[in-house]
Amino acid sequence: MDGPSPGRREVARPAACVVGVGSALPERVLTNLQLMEMVDTSDDWIVSRTGIRERRIAAEGEFTSHLAERAARQALDNAGLTPADIDLIVLATATPDNTFPSTAVAVQERLGMKTGAAFDVAAVCSGFVYALTTANALIATGTARRALVIGAETFSRILDWSDRTTCVLFGDGAGAVVLEANGATNGSASGTPRGIIASSLRSDGAHRDKLFVDGGPSSTRSVGHLRMRGQEVFRFAIGATVDVVEDVMAKAGITAQDIDWFVPHQANKRIIDASARKLGIDEKKVVLTVERHGNTSAASIPLALSQASADGRIKKGDLVLLEAMGGGFTWGAVLVRW
Ligand code: COA
Repeated sequence: MDGPSPGRREVARPAACVVGVGSALPERVLTNLQLMEMVDTSDDWIVSRTGIRERRIAAEGEFTSHLAERAARQALDNAGLTPADIDLIVLATATPDNTFPSTAVAVQERLGMKTGAAFDVAAVCSGFVYALTTANALIATGTARRALVIGAETFSRILDWSDRTTCVLFGDGAGAVVLEANGATNGSASGTPRGIIASSLRSDGAHRDKLFVDGGPSSTRSVGHLRMRGQEVFRFAIGATVDVVEDVMAKAGITAQDIDWFVPHQANKRIIDASARKLGIDEKKVVLTVERHGNTSAASIPLALSQASADGRIKKGDLVLLEAMGGGFTWGAVLVRW
């Protein structure tokens, strides 16, 4: 018999729906072989521990806001909208152009937006799921109608290029989605409502010394470099992923078998594989970009969404699970009917 399984909860109609997606990468590719000329490492070590083969590096004068603007314009084109249609920008980044004003207002100005509000969200690699949840909540309360939600980073600027334990892992890039209040047109005709179905956000500052930047305006008056206790991050990541994913699945009344696409933060293929296995998600449903992009922090999920929707894998009506974990620690998941 069709219909919800016993024990499943009715979920309220989603407030907002993804109507466009875009991304941007710097032109310069940095391969593992090129990294071997910079630090004592090997292609074999990097690929076997992380799955990463290459990453992109922003050009001199190419800022986080430039990548964000390109991704935003592509998402708007994809949605068939213009900047004038947007009344909110929420931009997730840990590598802003300046301490202030926000990178979001730089993007707002470049897009020629004269109205609406723009601000940054700081949750490092979990930034995109935090930003998406925030924008969704602002739409749900009627504060905004159409939002650009952007993840954009230039981690190459905060890496210690002499530290082989971190510099091989990260890259630069940006991705964006357009989130629109659900009106008569966005609810799918087939009866399955499209949009953001459930979110789960977590943080625990007790772990803030395990993945951090050793500088800042208030503490050192400098920018600092990324530092990480890799094994401790690795150990925490899988449990954290399972924690928030199980929470959103319970909120939505679904099981892992219902998910069409799992789009996790692209930190490390081993973490992604182990999390998918533990959750019982088929590896064919996992979107992977870490091989070509490295870890682009807040940009990694929207970059992966952009790729998998451009190549026809993610389609309207698919159930898409987003998940991330990062510095803080912060972690979170969002379930979207695409
Ligand atoms: N190339 C070659 N050797 C390297 C290296 C590199 N780039 N980086 C570290 N090593 C060496 C270490 O110095 C160590 O050598 P030693 O045994 O002689 O001391 C050896 O490799 C093993 O180091 P270890 O840290 O135990 O490796 P690991 O198996 O834990 O892998 C990570 C390291 C970083 C790949 C792994 O811990 C990890 O993926 N952590 C999670 C990182 C992450 O995803 N962070 C972002 C979260 S948002």
